[in-house]
Amino acid sequence: MSAIFKKANTAVITGGASGIGLALAQKCIGYGMRVLVADWDAQALGKAGETLGSAASTVRMDVSKLEDWSGLKDRVTKEFGGQINLLALNAGVSAKTAFDGEGADPAAFQRILNVNFLGVVNGILTLLPLVKEKATATTTSDYKAAIVITGSKQGITNPPGNPAYNASKAAVKSVAEQLSFDLRGLSNVNTHLLVPGWTWTALAGAGSGREKPEGPWTPGQVVDYLEAKMGEGRFWVVCPDNDVDEETDRRRMVWAAGDAVEGRPPLSRWREEYKGEFGEWMGRK
Ligand SMILES: NC(=O)c1ccc[n+]([C@@H]2O[C@H](COP(=O)([O-])OP(=O)(O)OC[C@H]3O[C@@H](n4cnc5c(N)ncnc54)[C@H](O)[C@@H]3O)[C@@H](O)[C@H]2O)c1
Repeated sequence: MSAIFKKANTAVITGGASGIGLALAQKCIGYGMRVLVADWDAQALGKAGETLGSAASTVRMDVSKLEDWSGLKDRVTKEFGGQINLLALNAGVSAKTAFDGEGADPAAFQRILNVNFLGVVNGILTLLPLVKEKATATTTSDYKAAIVITGSKQGITNPPGNPAYNASKAAVKSVAEQLSFDLRGLSNVNTHLLVPGWTWTALAGAGSGREKPEGPWTPGQVVDYLEAKMGEGRFWVVCPDNDVDEETDRRRMVWAAGDAVEGRPPLSRWREEYKGEFGEWMGRK
């Protein structure tokens, strides 16, 4: 079990009113933690507040707005005495983007980058000082903190079809790696990059009574996997799902990195002329 999930510890979770963030909030509450759920969706926040009960407080904010973060910081100071054991920078949006035709909308590019990327940066810039302050000031040797940043496989393998979302998640991965390196001297603060697989949430089409297909994991499965990998001290938390196993992900990631190393054109995995070679790579024992 991770040292983060334990009674009286605290969590701040953005995008915590729905999907993966809500499942993480439920996990924290289950361990007796106090949770601050930050989200933009007032209705979902209201429902989450009811579901989570009195151990959770809710904050309506837009993670892309730096000014909203100072309100959240005040709440953390007031309600948690500035203590954050788990900071989950998880809020994210998706919308179709493209370079021409449907999706060639500058506003969509900006919104996705602002929420998915700057939302994470704002969170680090605003709350990292609190995380570090407690972690360095505490005299308790078992005090631990973790920063979990939600990325995506789309930020690693870069499939065609949504340049803004992919770019935002590639940027998030880069920032998480930098943060992990910067915090290497603090032995009681870990950084984790949560890379969900296909997960059945509103962002992936759940809701309005739609039945869950076989392929996706539930948000609960994702946070159980996260907890296990956090317990192992892993930075990379690349989740499988019911369609894609861990070995498949490993091969896809190595192939993507191989485009640069081998001099193949970008996104070669999806190019007709590489289909055979890619298929052989995936099937190789
Ligand atoms: N569902 C998947 O298959 C999948 C796969 C890979 C990565 N992810 C990532 O997981 C994270 C969580 O998404 P989810 O799948 O649980 O979807 P979700 O839509 O259920 O949850 C996202 C939450 O973020 C909130 N949010 C959106 N914009 C916000 C803003 N500006 N400020 C504050 N809150 C905001 C939404 O209101 C929502 O409650 C996202 O970063 C997403 O990109 C999801």
